[in-house]
Amino acid sequence: MSVPVQVPFIDLKQRYQEEKTELLACVERVLEQGHFVLTQEVNEFEQQAARYVGARHCVSLNSGTDALMMALWALGIGKGDEVITTPVSFVASTGSIVHVGATPVYADVRDDQNIDPAEIVKKITPRTKAILPVHWTGRIADMNAIMDIARKHKLIVIEDAAQSMGAYYHGKHGGSFGHAAAFSAHPLKNLNALGDGGFLVTDDDEVARKVRLYRTHGLQDRDTCVLYGVNSRLDSLNAEVLKYRLSRLDNIVARRRRNANLYRGLIKPGPIYIPEDKPHEQNSFVMFITQANDRDRLKAYLAERGIESLVYYGTALHLHKAAERLGYKRGDFPVAEKQCDRVLALPHHQHLTEDQIGLVADAVNKFYGG
Ligand SMILES: Cc1ncc(COP(=O)(O)O)c(C=O)c1O
Repeated sequence: MSVPVQVPFIDLKQRYQEEKTELLACVERVLEQGHFVLTQEVNEFEQQAARYVGARHCVSLNSGTDALMMALWALGIGKGDEVITTPVSFVASTGSIVHVGATPVYADVRDDQNIDPAEIVKKITPRTKAILPVHWTGRIADMNAIMDIARKHKLIVIEDAAQSMGAYYHGKHGGSFGHAAAFSAHPLKNLNALGDGGFLVTDDDEVARKVRLYRTHGLQDRDTCVLYGVNSRLDSLNAEVLKYRLSRLDNIVARRRRNANLYRGLIKPGPIYIPEDKPHEQNSFVMFITQANDRDRLKAYLAERGIESLVYYGTALHLHKAAERLGYKRGDFPVAEKQCDRVLALPHHQHLTEDQIGLVADAVNKFYGG
């Protein structure tokens, strides 16, 4: 018999209720003016997002995955090039490298699940062209160290900032460190569209120019195709929604941080590890990740009490079937592998109540006999 859900992992219906009037007004505005592609709403969203992140350009696209691929492509990365990246991410971080014809080379992660700069250095070869760090769960990777390595070895840095809207490192927003960064506006992100969406930011005029062409078939104007591109445009409806949601992002992130701190205060450390936030890290908490002893039994125990949790993700990227061609094996990245065996994301969103957080923390503590 299934137990009624007491604490949902995420609750997008509540988000709709909170924003209903404004979201419907966005829809109405766009429908009434009757234009849906590359309109003023799109330009305005791009200007506002660029300002928010602290970049010269923002080019909106169909997804974060497209933003990653287009960043790689526009920066000239392709066949014969190696790109150093992390085995702890969503598959798109690696997939984008493969799709431009380059080779992903993994470097192991730190305790906080972000790529370890000391491991990056060990992986540099004459073929290395770029580093692609991921700001996993909204915690910015150690960008000072990564940018130092990049400068020393003349490497390009493309940030996978898919999860980092609202996240800062030494006071600087995620996505503003490297040559280009890719953001996702997938429904599970803090700044989320009504469906898929994404954007690329860069300070590089030429990268922005190329990506603007590439996202719309390489058309310079209606009759002039200067290269063969794709169709990857953020539609006007989502641009209008994202403009509105960008104005609320700080509020959403603040509520998520408050909830994360409540969890931290209530869950007894020991058998369950919650990576700390260092003073220079302002995590945006797209997820609330723990590393738990006896993870699968804990997950089942929570489910029996109506608490949803998710293994995010249980397979390190080098161990997927698709990665067989890269020639890695279990044991190659021991920190990442251990984390994948232990990782558990607890329910986490801005609508969680203190009672719900208390319920989850109590259940976790009880499971471990506390
Ligand atoms: C770390 C990371 N990279 C890339 C992506 C891909 O973004 P999208 O789903 O918008 O294509 C995601 C989104 O899930 C992600 O979390």
